Amino acid sequence: TPPAATPQWRPSYHFAPAAHWMNDPNGMVFYQGTYHLFFQYFPGGMTWGPMHWGHATSPDMLHWQEQPIALFPDSLGYIFSGSAVVDSKNTSGFGKNGVAPLVAIFTHHDPKGEKAGSKTFQNQSLAYSLDAGKTWTKYAGNPVVKNPGIVDFRDPKVSWNEQANRWILTLATKDRITFYSSPNLKKWTTESEFGEKLGAHGGVWECPDLFPLTLNGKSHWVLLVNINPGGPNGGSATQYFVGSFDGHTFKPMNDKTKWADFGPDEYAGVTFANTGPRRLFLGWMSNWEYANQVPTSPWRSAMTLPRELGLRQEGSEIYLTSTPARELNKLAAAPTTLQKVAVKAPVDLARLRVPSGKYRLNLSTSQLASFELVLSNTAGEELVLGYDKARNEYFIDRTKAGNTSFSPKFAGRHVAPRLTTAAGADLTLFFDAASVELFADHGLTAMTEIFFPFKPLTSMRLRSATGITFQQVSSAALAPRPTGK
Ligand code: FRU
Repeated sequence: TPPAATPQWRPSYHFAPAAHWMNDPNGMVFYQGTYHLFFQYFPGGMTWGPMHWGHATSPDMLHWQEQPIALFPDSLGYIFSGSAVVDSKNTSGFGKNGVAPLVAIFTHHDPKGEKAGSKTFQNQSLAYSLDAGKTWTKYAGNPVVKNPGIVDFRDPKVSWNEQANRWILTLATKDRITFYSSPNLKKWTTESEFGEKLGAHGGVWECPDLFPLTLNGKSHWVLLVNINPGGPNGGSATQYFVGSFDGHTFKPMNDKTKWADFGPDEYAGVTFANTGPRRLFLGWMSNWEYANQVPTSPWRSAMTLPRELGLRQEGSEIYLTSTPARELNKLAAAPTTLQKVAVKAPVDLARLRVPSGKYRLNLSTSQLASFELVLSNTAGEELVLGYDKARNEYFIDRTKAGNTSFSPKFAGRHVAPRLTTAAGADLTLFFDAASVELFADHGLTAMTEIFFPFKPLTSMRLRSATGITFQQVSSAALAPRPTGK
């Protein structure tokens, strides 16, 4: 029997399955006006188990409707992470009667092979749908990419590459990325490898993604590489490289390790297919260090907010920026705004309180000084976050923010660098029932953190040892709206 239900920690505008275990987002694709999210799912329990692809749909990436399970394990194994594309030219031949197929490419993970000590138990396979993702047929010729003998060989991300005039498959192969190309999604040719000696290598490379973004009229390629463990605050995290891709080979602009999100709780993040010029990203809001222990019931874990990715130059570096998708504005009630908030003695922000605990908070200042935002309750629980000027770091401290006893790895203070030299600072925070996502300096630094207060954190204060004045502090309640069905 599952532990007592915890509705107080159920997110209201993040996706979480009604029940059971979830990890990575998979096969995200925008198709005929609907966002599709598939996800690593074990319908038989609240901890990781034989993997299926769960399925949810949404008009805006915020109001999600859970759908029947899309892919079940079969004789080739569990259904591990992967991607989906709209094969609009029907290169695969799966289309029928003029209907372009949705094609999913995923890792078949054979638990029997793994147990028997084989090295080739992960292989890449296809499935397709001709009814907008409702039902799926596995390809009879699976697997389409056979394992050459690499134990960690998984998480295929496919996209159409104009320059190569082919599909490009980006695959995590243990400590590097292997690129493949194909005219038809079925027959794959190895193109190149990347990364054995570059980037963070504190753990195995997983769930990659490759896509172009434009900065000042020039196109750059971004390679996302999730890594577990070895993240900047411990455990799993998303690193990235900015560089070029000529249809065959990825070349990074330099060897600096960069992180798409510095917090402990964004992992396996990748982007949607088929969204035109927008590049939309979603991650799993947990960390393998304690994902199987987090105290929610009857579901385990949620996804992050949808984020729109961009590029920004700071000095000679080009960074990825993540900003909350603009669809969120539609959930926001009229904001309450305080002007010129001078923080010398602690300032009580009682007027900005949102009783539901689900809100967006904006802080902007033209000065830079250390400050702390403290959310607390009368039970002595507190979540503290802010900026440390001496270290030029943002931080989130959940050490005392409620239930931390389920894992020794959970309590802690986590930090993220400030990456701009701009004079002022701008922070946007999104609070849901058991999470906060921090976006600083217009998306240059992102941090995602989950926490489980026993009682609502109803008090909100600002403090600063040196003093700081905010031009503006504002909050807006966030609530999903009925989807009008
Ligand atoms: C990442 C990951 C993937 C794998 C999946 C299994 O979190 O380990 O590499 O495909 O989870 O559920």
